[in-house]
Amino acid sequence: MNYFETEFIHYKNNQLYVEEVPAEELVKKFGTPLYVYSRNHFINQYKKFDSAFKEIDHQIFFAMKSNFNLSVIDTFVKLGSGVDVNSEGELFRALKTNVSSNKIILTGVGKTKNEIRLGLEKNVLMIKAECEEEVELINKIAGEMNQVASVALRVNPDVDAQTHPYISTGLSKNKFGIDTETAMSIYRRRNQFRNIQFTGIDMHIGSQITSIDPFLEAISKMSEMYFTLKSEKLKLKHFDIGGGIGVEYNSEKSFSIEEFASKTISLFKKLDCKILFEPGRFLTANGGILLTEVLYNKRNGNKKFIIVDSAMNDLLRPTIYQAYHHIQPVLKFENREIQTADIVGPVCETGDYFARDREISETKSGEYLAVMSAGAYAMTMASNYNARRRAPEIIIDGEQIIIARSRETFEHLLWDEKII
Ligand SMILES: Cc1ncc(COP(=O)(O)O)c(C=O)c1O
Repeated sequence: MNYFETEFIHYKNNQLYVEEVPAEELVKKFGTPLYVYSRNHFINQYKKFDSAFKEIDHQIFFAMKSNFNLSVIDTFVKLGSGVDVNSEGELFRALKTNVSSNKIILTGVGKTKNEIRLGLEKNVLMIKAECEEEVELINKIAGEMNQVASVALRVNPDVDAQTHPYISTGLSKNKFGIDTETAMSIYRRRNQFRNIQFTGIDMHIGSQITSIDPFLEAISKMSEMYFTLKSEKLKLKHFDIGGGIGVEYNSEKSFSIEEFASKTISLFKKLDCKILFEPGRFLTANGGILLTEVLYNKRNGNKKFIIVDSAMNDLLRPTIYQAYHHIQPVLKFENREIQTADIVGPVCETGDYFARDREISETKSGEYLAVMSAGAYAMTMASNYNARRRAPEIIIDGEQIIIARSRETFEHLLWDEKII
């Protein structure tokens, strides 16, 4: 079987370590299911990204939808990152960290009046508008608040990001953004929006994109718009290319951030404005694992199942995207046979699985497995389905063990609920 290892999460003497701490020690201390993150992986990824673009005026906004643990967000904020928030709840969370509100971007395809009002009240750097009606609403609310809102239009460049259809966002058939023609007509009617200043242009064409070409195509379409607007006396301050950079979950070949920078910097240099990035997965995905205990091994006819104590409520990606995650033992034992099995959770759904027909060394009840690459879109999608408590989140920094969030109690699940 294949083992997935990174600089900060790897085996030493057949034991899986997160930085300097054995995973076995963590499960003994905190139980399972358990999310564990490597802080130095996050720091490293951020620094790599930032330094790849050091030649140009840029700013990274961590897309907290990928991992919204306060300590994780704050790790990036302390390195200079801003935060891309997608809802009132994310804005509330972001403001609990050390980020200043003028380093927050408010995103979202269906923002409510409250969300827009809150964004303006907190004075966020910019609000992204995703349709004409939203531009009108932002203008109206900003007027009522005697403010001028800084707005970027999220353009849908109609580019195929060649990724899973559920995380492709830049095609005209997707619900996101405004087509280029409509966006141009909104910018051109800017005088009608007295309480809006258009400060930027934005895109986000999808997630887990493993080829640079879709980015180049979209950047080129948006650059054309930028220059046309400039020639029409609208000088935008921000050119935001969103997130979407793919990472390695299995054997897919993504591009390096240095390669991405080398192919895009010359295009960005022509723009004479600040380039904004909103990476999520790139910064977090391979910095996290989900630890789980093997409950049972069973056979239905020829089919083998390993039943573990984590489930789709902890990590939804396999269920909704058929996403691949490496699954490997916390302790490697010599001379174990390799078997083919489905690795499934205890939730009452056929879709509750982590892997199907996966080759994995034989496991025994009571042993522990690690679901790898669980730092992005993992805990943020967790739910209480089947009245299961959400898992704790532990951050490892060298030898230091930080409890970033404890396991929920059953009382938390009943919060303010009554029988009437
Ligand atoms: C607007 C926006 N920006 C950034 C991101 C982050 O994407 P990724 O995690 O693929 O970098 C997303 C994710 O869907 C998004 O919707």
